[in-house]
Amino acid sequence: IPVQPFDYVVFGATGDLTKRKLIPALYHRFHDGQFDEQSHIIGVSRSKLSDEEFRTLARDSVHEFVEAEYQDEAVIARFVSIFSYVSIDVSNREGWTDLGPALREDPKVVRAFYLAVAPDLFGPICQYLKDKGYYRRDARVVVEKPLGHDLASSGQINDAISEIFAEDQVYRIDHYLGKETVQNLLALRFANILFEPIWNSAHIDHIQLTVAESVGAGTRGYYDESGALRDMIQNHMLQLLCLVAMEPPASDEANALRDEKLKVLRSLKPIRGEAVGRCTVRGQYRGVSSEGTSVKGYQDELPAEKKGSRTETFVALKAEIENWRWSGVPFYFRTGKRMATRVSEIVIQFRTIPHSIFDHAEGAPRPNRLIIRLQPDEGVRMLMMIKDPGPGGMRLREVPLNLSFAETFSERTPEAYERLLLDVIRGNQTLFMRRDELEAAWSWVDPIRSAWDTGNDAPQPYSAGTWGPTGAIALIERDGRTWHEDG
Ligand code: BG6
Repeated sequence: IPVQPFDYVVFGATGDLTKRKLIPALYHRFHDGQFDEQSHIIGVSRSKLSDEEFRTLARDSVHEFVEAEYQDEAVIARFVSIFSYVSIDVSNREGWTDLGPALREDPKVVRAFYLAVAPDLFGPICQYLKDKGYYRRDARVVVEKPLGHDLASSGQINDAISEIFAEDQVYRIDHYLGKETVQNLLALRFANILFEPIWNSAHIDHIQLTVAESVGAGTRGYYDESGALRDMIQNHMLQLLCLVAMEPPASDEANALRDEKLKVLRSLKPIRGEAVGRCTVRGQYRGVSSEGTSVKGYQDELPAEKKGSRTETFVALKAEIENWRWSGVPFYFRTGKRMATRVSEIVIQFRTIPHSIFDHAEGAPRPNRLIIRLQPDEGVRMLMMIKDPGPGGMRLREVPLNLSFAETFSERTPEAYERLLLDVIRGNQTLFMRRDELEAAWSWVDPIRSAWDTGNDAPQPYSAGTWGPTGAIALIERDGRTWHEDG
C-alpha cells in the first residue's frame, strides 16, 4: 500500500549512512511503487552542492549499493528526480532560510526530519527547526545511535530533542528491529499456540543470544570510544532479549509492545560490583598470520594515538531476568568482531525430559533446542530426537525440523531501513525505541562499563577468526552448559 506523500529532510546527506543505507532503502521502496514523484527527499549538509550534484550522489549510491537485478535506469531517473539539496552549516547557522522553499505546507504531505549527524547536533537542529518555523506538531524526527554513551549523556540528548518534539514524534532507530527475522520473533511467539505454554522457566533451561561478526573494527573511527558493550549489547541485543522474553502484549500497537519490552529491561538483575567479574567477559582480537594470509589485530588497526586501547571488541555475559516467567533461566549473550563467522542467532534450550524410557537405547535423549537464525541463512530450526531408521533396535538421533526462509519464500528479503523509513511516514512507532526503554537499557549497562573502566584488568585477547577468549567458554561451562556452535 503506497504511503502518503512526504517531504523527507535528511541531515547528513553526504554521509556514509545516507549513501549506504538510506538512499538504497528508499530506492527499493520507490521501485516497488510504495511512493512516487509526489514525495520529495531533501538532502541537507554543510557541503555546497547543487541539486544536480546531489542527484548524482543518489544515483551513484543506487548503482553501488543496490543489487544489480533491481537497478532499472528508467526507475532510477524518476527516483533521483525527487531529490533536492540545501546547504546548511548547523554550527554557524548559515543557510537555514533556504530550507523553507523546499518544504510544502500542505498538511497531507508528511514532514519528517532524519538526523544522520553526530548526536551533539540533534539539540541545535531541533531548536533551529522550531525557530525557523519548520516545526509542525505532526512532523517527525528520526535519530540514530549512538544516543549517548551512558545514562546521563543519553538523558541530555533526549532532553534536547524533547524541548521541541513530543515523544510521539520521535523515532529512535535500532535497525535490528527493522530486520525481517527479528520481526518474525513476534510472529513465531504470538501467531502460534505451540510455544507460549512452554515459554518459561518450567520448560526452558537457558537461552543464548549470539551476534558474531567476521569484520574488524579498528578502522571505524567511532568504535574505540564505544566498544562492543555500547555498540551492540546496550541496543541491538537487549532489544532481541526483550522480544524473546517479554509477556504477550495485548496488541501490536506501539505502546502496548514497548510497555512489555520496558518491563523486561526493568526486570534485568543488575550486574555490579563483584558480579561483573563473575558474569561478564570482554575480549579484544589479536592478529593472526598463517601460510601467507594475515589478519591484523585490533591494536594494529588503530591510529598511533590510540595504541594501547582497552576497548573491548568482544563481550560475553550472563544475564538474568527477575520475574515469575524467567526466574532461574540464564540468558547468555555474546557478540564480537573478527569472530569465526558472521552469524546472529537465538538458541532456546529446553529442559531435559523428566524421565527417559530409553535407558538401553543407543544415544541418550538430548534436550530440544529451538534455533532462530537471524542472519545469514534466515530460518527457524527445532532440534528433535527421533528414532534412527532401521531394524537394529532403538537408536536415538537428533535431527532438525527445518524452516529455511530462502527455501520457503521466493521474495527478496527487504533491508531493515526499508521498513523503518516508511514506518516513520506511516506514523507507526512500534519498531522504534521509546525513551524509557533506552534509559532502562543504559541503567543496566552503565555499572558493567564503570566496573570495567575502574578495574585493572584488560580485555582478554582472542585470535581473529575464533569464537572469542577462553573466558567466554569458561563463563558458560561453569554452569555446566556449552555455546551452541554449528555455524
Ligand atoms: C551497528 C554497529 O549498529 O550494527 C556495527 O554499530 C555493527 O558495529 C552493525 O557492525 C551490525 O549490523 P548488521 O545489520 O550488519 O548485523
